Amino acid sequence: MVVLFGTISVILLTAYVYLQSHLKTYFIRQVEDTLKKEVYLNKNLIESTLGAEPSRSHTRLIADTIGRNLKVRATIIRADGTVLGDSELDGEHVKQMENHLERPEVQDAFRKGFGQSERYSKTLKKRMLYMAVPLVVKEEKIPWIVRVAVPESEVLGLEREVRKIIAVAVCIAFVFSAALSVGVALYISNPLCEMAAVARNMAKGDFSKKVYISSKDEVGDLASALNFMSDEIKGMVRKVTAEEAKFAAILSSMLAGVMVTDEKGRIVIMNPSLRKMFMVDVPAEGKLPLEVIRNAAVQDMAAKALQGVRALASDEIQLNVPQERFIQVNGAPIMREGRCDGAILVFHDITELKRLERIRKDFVANVSHELRTPIASIKGYAETLLDGALQDKEHSKEFIKIMYENSDRLAKLIEDLLDLSKIESGKMKIAFLQVDIADAFKRAAAVIANQANAKSISIQSNIPAVLPKVLADETRLSQVFVNLLDNAVKYTPEKGTIIVTVSVQDRFVQIAIADTGAGIPSNDIPRIFERFYRVDKAHSRELGGTGLGLSIVKHIVQIHGGNVWVESEVGRGTTFSFTIPIA
Ligand SMILES: Nc1ncnc2c1ncn2[C@@H]1O[C@H](COP(=O)(O)OP(=O)(O)OP(=O)(O)O)[C@@H](O)[C@H]1O
Ligand SMILES: [Mg+2]
Repeated sequence: MVVLFGTISVILLTAYVYLQSHLKTYFIRQVEDTLKKEVYLNKNLIESTLGAEPSRSHTRLIADTIGRNLKVRATIIRADGTVLGDSELDGEHVKQMENHLERPEVQDAFRKGFGQSERYSKTLKKRMLYMAVPLVVKEEKIPWIVRVAVPESEVLGLEREVRKIIAVAVCIAFVFSAALSVGVALYISNPLCEMAAVARNMAKGDFSKKVYISSKDEVGDLASALNFMSDEIKGMVRKVTAEEAKFAAILSSMLAGVMVTDEKGRIVIMNPSLRKMFMVDVPAEGKLPLEVIRNAAVQDMAAKALQGVRALASDEIQLNVPQERFIQVNGAPIMREGRCDGAILVFHDITELKRLERIRKDFVANVSHELRTPIASIKGYAETLLDGALQDKEHSKEFIKIMYENSDRLAKLIEDLLDLSKIESGKMKIAFLQVDIADAFKRAAAVIANQANAKSISIQSNIPAVLPKVLADETRLSQVFVNLLDNAVKYTPEKGTIIVTVSVQDRFVQIAIADTGAGIPSNDIPRIFERFYRVDKAHSRELGGTGLGLSIVKHIVQIHGGNVWVESEVGRGTTFSFTIPIA
């Protein structure tokens, strides 16, 4: 708006100044041109009118006629400079007029055939514009002069008038241009500025602003197009943002580690699981995998994935810090329009899988071994008996006793294995009822009593008289007591003591079975509940143990919703504790 108004103003001012400076010259030239034409016209007229002997009065009459008709001052001057006639003066005054020979216009007329000058007329007491041409008069050798003059004030008066008109016109033009500028501003500039502001906001991601222009012209069309575009972009941005958020949520909630690299092998995405897996706490974007994860195998995998055209690269990485872990890495190139655009690597922590796999293998090996030993023994003694030992009454009884013990051991082993497999497969039938924990303990203590007596071990109980009932399967709960008491008796030397303490902890009843036995080395404690795990294999087997007791205890307690743990000090004793929820 300001620019428009400024431009118009400058143009107007320039035109005004130009006209001002040229107006006067233009008018004078116009008058001069007219005068010139008139003086030549008069010259011919006078030349044909003047007789051979023109009288003063005749000459004056001619001058008067010209002056009246043309509304100029006309003067006829003789060759010697004497004024013969003047339209503005009468006869008497003409006679008194001074010689005009030296007037510049007269001189020029003689010399060049045309004279012009602008000066103050003493006769008429005002500035005049004069023009003179020679007149050829019969009988006269030297030509006369006819001169016409107009007062300058006449020319200037006209000029002043025009100047005034121009000034008024310029003023009107100014007002119009101002009005035009305001109009342009209102109908074009302001809406455009508003639209520009909305567009700028859109670029910054703010789509809340709208352009409110209801006009039906192009500006209105543009505004509604902009509003439509804003809505469309807003929709698209919302969609893209939602997709991005979904993608980010999937990535960050994934248990597997994910790394995406660009075609140069630089990291683009690294999800939180992967950061945790490799303990990365620095920004990874834009770096090479090796700069972030100090593991050559990961870098190799990233390179391999980038090279592979479609194939899936797979590898297993072993980490030793902070503890032994196994990571499975799968890598594949990201193909776009037939060329490799980057790579994606997926990391799975397979440590637990490996551990379970090892346990499974150990289990099979252990079962075979545990079965083989009693079977070999039974088979061996049976063979010996068949080979004739049956006749040896003294030894045969001994052999059969050993065979019985081993078959008993086999039966116990198979029973335990069946129990375990039933528990693990969820097929063990458990009848949850309200059970008196003191009763369950008493029943178990009765089973163990003989064993304890044989080793002179006293079993003391520290059970409150009033106890809430627990929600449990009585048979299984007794099995837990029997297994723990059996261990306590088995691994406590003669004359030891076993103390059973029962207490209420929150919503659980807690049972602690403490002995004064050999204790368990702290290294073995984490594995003590594993199947077949025994601290001293030979000793345990000697005592008829299979290493399944604690494993069964743990499973049963967990099925009940309780917990089991052990505290032990080598040489001083062991305390096994477990909890069972109150009914
Ligand atoms: N009270 C205890 N004191 C010392 N060591 C124990 C005690 N209880 C268990 N252990 C150790 O834990 C191992 C595992 O016990 P668990 O009851 O599972 O097997 P087991 O007693 O050897 O055989 P099973 O109970 O099947 O007859 C035992 O071999 C023993 O080394
Ligand atoms: Mg045991």
